[in-house]
Amino acid sequence: MEYKSIAIDGPSGAGKSTMAKRLAAELGYLYVDTGAIYRTLGLFALWRGVDPADETTVRELLPQVEIRMAYGEDGLQHMYLMGEDVTGEIRTPEVSDAASKVSAIPAVRTFLLEMQRELARKNNVIMDGRDIGTVVLPDADVKIFLVASLEARARRRHAELLERGVRTELSQVLADMEERDARDSGRTAAPLRQAEGAVLVDTTEYSLENSFALMLRTVRERLE
Ligand code: DC
Repeated sequence: MEYKSIAIDGPSGAGKSTMAKRLAAELGYLYVDTGAIYRTLGLFALWRGVDPADETTVRELLPQVEIRMAYGEDGLQHMYLMGEDVTGEIRTPEVSDAASKVSAIPAVRTFLLEMQRELARKNNVIMDGRDIGTVVLPDADVKIFLVASLEARARRRHAELLERGVRTELSQVLADMEERDARDSGRTAAPLRQAEGAVLVDTTEYSLENSFALMLRTVRERLE
């Protein structure tokens, strides 16, 4: 059987995971959050006391790491690192930073590529990340590039962190995000960019409800 795939790429805080999760529920597809995989590897570097930006040392870690993904009864994508459920632990600002750093290392991207493609070979997927439409699934049936202004994204991320009990300043969230944006877009290995054939959706001015309606329409039109 031929499976369908939908690729959603964009910078952090544009609403990728919220949109992708809702779309997946609506269409009955598997939602794959690829950022969570990079986050898990970033956490591993922190566990081992390794600088996540140090290419040589991070490369040496790869043969030792065991990353697994499983879908819980709650329907959520759980991440396991060396057998331990780290689903909550990978959502801190420290891990965001480590993930962005390890993800710039080409050997890391090659190491995680097959794991992502395998999921798309066996399921109808909605995958979100930075390079899904460009590298991981260049033949995806639908590609969306989801963006929003830096300020709008920082405001959303700040509210999200506060809601989860992580106390930070908006100015700090904005500065961190700007730094991550620059790294994710400026790196040589699979930089964040709009894939050929990707539909651009800008959520700066749209409410989440309107953005979702627009994306659902786009996806339905292209899947037909
Ligand atoms: O989407 P996120 O914030 O959870 O992603 C964490 C980091 O992982 C992000 O800074 C860039 C990296 N990433 C990537 O390089 N490629 C992907 N497909 C997904 C995430």
